[in-house]
Formats: sequence, structure tokens, C-alpha cells
Amino acid sequence: MSLSENKKILITSALPYANGPLHFGHIAGAYLPGDCYARFERLRGNEVLYLCGSDEHGVAITLSAEMAGRTPKEHVDHFHQVIQGIFHQLQFSFDHYSRTTWPGHYKTTQEFFEVLEKKGFIEERTENHLFSEKENRFLADRYVVGTCPKCGFDAARGDECQRCASSYEAIDLKNPRSKLTGSPLVLRPSSHLYLRFDLFKERLKDWILSKNWKENVVRFAMGYIDDLKPRAITRDSDWGVPVPGYPNKVFYVWFDAPIGYISAAKEWAEKIGQPQRWKDFWLDPETKLVEFIGKDNIPFHAVFFPAMLMGQDLPYKLPDELPANEFYLLEGRQFSKSDNWTIDLESFFQSYTSDQIRYAIAANAPETADSDFSWKDFQMRCNAELLGKLGNFVHRVLVFAHQHCQGKVPPLHPIDDADRDFLEKITLQVELAAQCYEAFHLRKACQTLMELCQIANSYFDAKKPWVLAKDPARSQELYSCIALCLHCIKAIALIASPLIPESAQKIWEMLGNSTKLNESRWKEIQVGHLPLGQALLPSQVLFRKVEDAEILEQIEKLGKKTKQEEPISYTPLKKTIHIDQFREIDLRVALVLEAERVPKSKKLLKLKVDLGFEKRTILSGIALSHTPEQLIGKKIIVVANLAPATLMGIESQGMVLAAALGNRCDLPEIQNLPPGSAID
Ligand code: MF3
Ligand code: ZN
Repeated sequence: MSLSENKKILITSALPYANGPLHFGHIAGAYLPGDCYARFERLRGNEVLYLCGSDEHGVAITLSAEMAGRTPKEHVDHFHQVIQGIFHQLQFSFDHYSRTTWPGHYKTTQEFFEVLEKKGFIEERTENHLFSEKENRFLADRYVVGTCPKCGFDAARGDECQRCASSYEAIDLKNPRSKLTGSPLVLRPSSHLYLRFDLFKERLKDWILSKNWKENVVRFAMGYIDDLKPRAITRDSDWGVPVPGYPNKVFYVWFDAPIGYISAAKEWAEKIGQPQRWKDFWLDPETKLVEFIGKDNIPFHAVFFPAMLMGQDLPYKLPDELPANEFYLLEGRQFSKSDNWTIDLESFFQSYTSDQIRYAIAANAPETADSDFSWKDFQMRCNAELLGKLGNFVHRVLVFAHQHCQGKVPPLHPIDDADRDFLEKITLQVELAAQCYEAFHLRKACQTLMELCQIANSYFDAKKPWVLAKDPARSQELYSCIALCLHCIKAIALIASPLIPESAQKIWEMLGNSTKLNESRWKEIQVGHLPLGQALLPSQVLFRKVEDAEILEQIEKLGKKTKQEEPISYTPLKKTIHIDQFREIDLRVALVLEAERVPKSKKLLKLKVDLGFEKRTILSGIALSHTPEQLIGKKIIVVANLAPATLMGIESQGMVLAAALGNRCDLPEIQNLPPGSAID
């Protein structure tokens, strides 16, 4: 196997959506494998550029921002920070972490489009889309609810029915309404730009077939290529990269996001003061491009983005490797926030070191099949492997060297057959580990590391240096044994470094080295020996024991929602408004005359209220906390100048003000003034 050196390697991990904290399952798929690979290739002496960044556009983001009462920008600013914090805690070694809202990304995306357009790959088509007259905008699928065309369920989602699971186009829904405002939607023609992916079929096929990729990737990609059609690359929205020449349109998030790999390289080049440097990676055929993704991202990375690259004027690199991992589950089930089937990353980071977490994930990475995080496995990895095999060997050798070798690296001379055998095994394991990293096999790399620790412990046990120490005539044998064990610890630090960088560095320092292990060269460390007489540091604890009690506690927590543990989630503060904006809202005291439940709705009450000067019907989502009887005769506060909206076929002519926290809600009541009084 020829392992490369002095090669340029461009590594990317899929850009995570800035729409929530990083999902624990994702770390195992597209991120940790990328980081270990980048660390390994740097050690090999290759020139690595490892890039990632936040994916900050798309309808999922505008929708959840709106629901959270934030602007999309506030929303992505927040999660960009949160995600970066998680990567930081896990010791990720990105050369640059970018985001798709920086201006250079907009420019790069627009230029990409302009080249595709110039070369005839773009065409305009007009089709009907759902439009909200009330909100004065076209609504994407995720913003739409309506009656399922198949089963008649009246609150079906815009793309598929959650009751009968059929999938359809949003325009097929009956009675389509806005998810946010409930207002009815109409069909309006809108023109969009389509990218002629079909024109790239042959080139894509030839390219994919020339690759030696995992079977799941090739099969998936070929399936897509077979029926490639033109696809819309624009959306009606004001959040995204603006489409030049088309006001009110932005690029579809999957058009702009992968271009983020290129704009991130540009931003990195600017950061290091060599603005042209990105070209050395993206435009040089000698560069190796490795894109780490989860399996759900295969079509975009193996088909759509490569076609976009093929349609450019510049000789962009296409991915050379596309390590696509399977899904990572939790105790056999998909991670799910809403069922509390999840791991709270914050408390996880507080209880365990990043190396424990990295190792446990890597040892069980979903490389060839879906895999599973389980607390028992986590405990076993930490205790039996990291502590029992690795930590224990390092500790016993160092303690011994301090007691019997004056705390210095002893001479390695002479050596017997057992020593020679040990030495050969060390070399072999180091080579094996290198091959594992090179082939993205993290599980196997972990096994190789543990095998080396096992070999080392067996050697130590067989040599019985504590017996040798009792006989002064055998001191040379003793010294050779300890010298070899220290040599092995150095090899352990080396092959552990991409996986558990902090602990590897600690071990490296305990051996008396003052350099940075991750700035060293794999080969030099592999063949070199520790300098004779180098002073060793005292052994320090590398891994804490994970107790049964804490694991049981974690398992108990799963799937349970205990009151104490659930932190209050306050609605985020909205952006500051001017007093004039506030004054536009007309708040009035209203007397509740009648109240009744709305049939088929759990939440809605229909109120008849008196504003003094007129009577109105108002629908309010307070039925979970208030009975109709509780309300009649009360004076509440309503928004009196809100445009009417139809909910469940009833026109609501205003809105009731209520305080809300989580699922609970409470109504402010006016004691003395009559209905119609203004509130400001
Ligand atoms: N944000 C996407 C996801 O989490 C991945 C985008 S990868 C990119 O599934 F290539 F588009 F950047
Ligand atoms: Zn249905």
C-alpha cells in the first residue's frame, strides 16, 4: 500500500443546517470521520484543507425562525454559534468554519448561476404555485396545510399526509391554508428557473462508473441519474441568495449550500491573507477532494453538485472520495427530540471528556450498516478499552520506569526474540492503523489501537519486569523491556492521535516530549526512537472510570419527561420595534358574551365579545386551559384591528391576548373600565 505524502487534500464535512443544535447522530456520520481523517492526513505530511460551515438558508429555517418569533438572521446567528460551540468542544480541527450568509458566498453562488445560464443550462418555466393573498407571498410546501386528497384528513402537511402517509404536491391539497396564519391559499402562476440536469446524464454516468466507491453510493447515484430531469433551482422567498435579475426570488437551498464548500475555501484564503490560495485546492487536478456526508445526502453530492461543477468554465475538482455513512441510532431507535429519545449534549460534555465521546462514537461508527449508541457500550468503551487497556498500560510502564529506571528512557540493548517479536508487532499495528485511516475505517482503527494495547500488556506480563528488577544481573534485560514498552507507548500515542487527540498529546508529553504531536510526522515517529536518557513525566490519569450508577441513571432518563429536568423554554425576545409600530396595534377591552368549543378542534374556543361600539366573533386557541363557562362575563383584552382570518370555516374578527408558557396559558382581566376602552 502506498501512502501518500506532500499531497494537497481538500476535505469537507456536509454543512449542517443552522436550525438547531448539531444532532448527536450526525456527529458519527459526516463529522467525526472527517476530523479523524483530516488529522491523520496532516500527520502523514499532506497539505490538508479541512472545511465546513453552517448551511443557513432554506424553508426549514425561515419556518422555524417564524415559529420561534425570530428573524431568519437572528435564528441562524444563534445556531451558528451553538453548532460551532459543539464542534469546539469535540476538538474539531477545521481549517475554517464558514457560513452561507457571508457576502462572498452570495457572490460565488450568483457567479455559478451566471455561468450555467450563459452556457445554456438554465431554462425558465411557469407553473402554478400556492399563494397567500393575505401574506402577499407564495408559500413553500412546509408552510402549507390542507385536506389530504387521499384520506380527507383536514390538517395534512404540504408534502405528505401524516395520517395516511401518502405523498403529493402541495397544489393537490383541498382547502389549502397557510400554516402560520390559517388564511386560504390560491393558485397563481409563478415562473421559476430550472437547471437542465438531464443534459449531464452521460458525463455523470461515465464519471461515477470510473470511481471505486462504496456500492451503496454507486447504486444510489446511478438510480438518480437514470431519470434525471430539469429541476427548479429558485424559490419565491426573501431568505436566501438573491437570483440576479429576478426580484423576490432566491436560490433553492440545495443549489447554494454545496457551493458553500467553495466559498468557504475563498473565505479561508482571505483569512490567511492569500486570496488566490483557494484555487490551489479547488482548481488543481492533483488535489484529492474528499467529501464526508451522511447517506441522505448522496444524491446531492454524487449527482446534482457534480453536474453544477461540470457546467462551469473553471476546471473545478469533482469529489474523489465520498465517504457516506449510514445512520446512527440511540439504543436501537432513531434519535428524537420530541420523545426525549436523545442525549443532551451539554450535560454529556460536562460529564465526559471529548476523547471519551470521540472514541466511543468512532469505535461504533455507522460505516457499513446503521449502528447504535448505547450507554452500556459507552461504558464498556471507556472502562474496558480506554482505561483498562490503553490507560492501564501507559500507567504501569511509567510507574515502573520511575521506580527502576530513574524516570528516564533506558537503553534498548540487547534484545531477545520476544523483544524482536514485540517490535515487529508494533510496526505492523502502526501500518495497519494508517491503512484504516486512509480508507476511512474508524472502527477498524479503534480495534487496531486496542489490539496494540493488548499486545503490549501481554508482553509486559510475559516479561515480568518486576521479577527482573529483583536481580541486579538482569538489569539490561529490564532496561530493554521498559525501553520497548516506552517505544510502544509512543506508537500508541501516534495511532490514537486522530481519534483522541487530547489524550494522545498527554501521553506524548508524559514520554518527555515537549513538541506538539499533531504537528509531528507519522513516519518519523514510527521509525524513530525516544532519545536515550530523556526524562519522563509522572504518570497522570488519562480516563476516569464510568460508574454503573451514572449509566443506569442515563438509561432511566431516556424516553421520560420528568418535570424537574425539563428546563423552562422561554419564547425568545422579539426584535425591537419603534413606538409608532406599537401604536398601530389597537388593543381594546372586550366583554365575553358567549363562549363555545369549536367542533373537531381541541384547542379552539369561539367567543362572542362586546367591544362596546360593536360585537364580534373571535376564535382563540385557549380551549386546553379554559372552559367556555370560565370565560363568560369576563372582560379580556383583544386586538381589534387585526385583519379577519378564517379558521375551521369560521371567520375570526380579532385576537385574544393571552400569556403563555409551554402548554399553559392565562388571560389578563380588566376589573373596572367598560368594554371598548383602549389600551396603550
Ligand atoms: N445542510 C444539509 C444537511 O444537513 C447538508 C448540506 S451539505 C452541502 O442535510 F453540500 F449542501 F453543503
Ligand atoms: Zn391522508
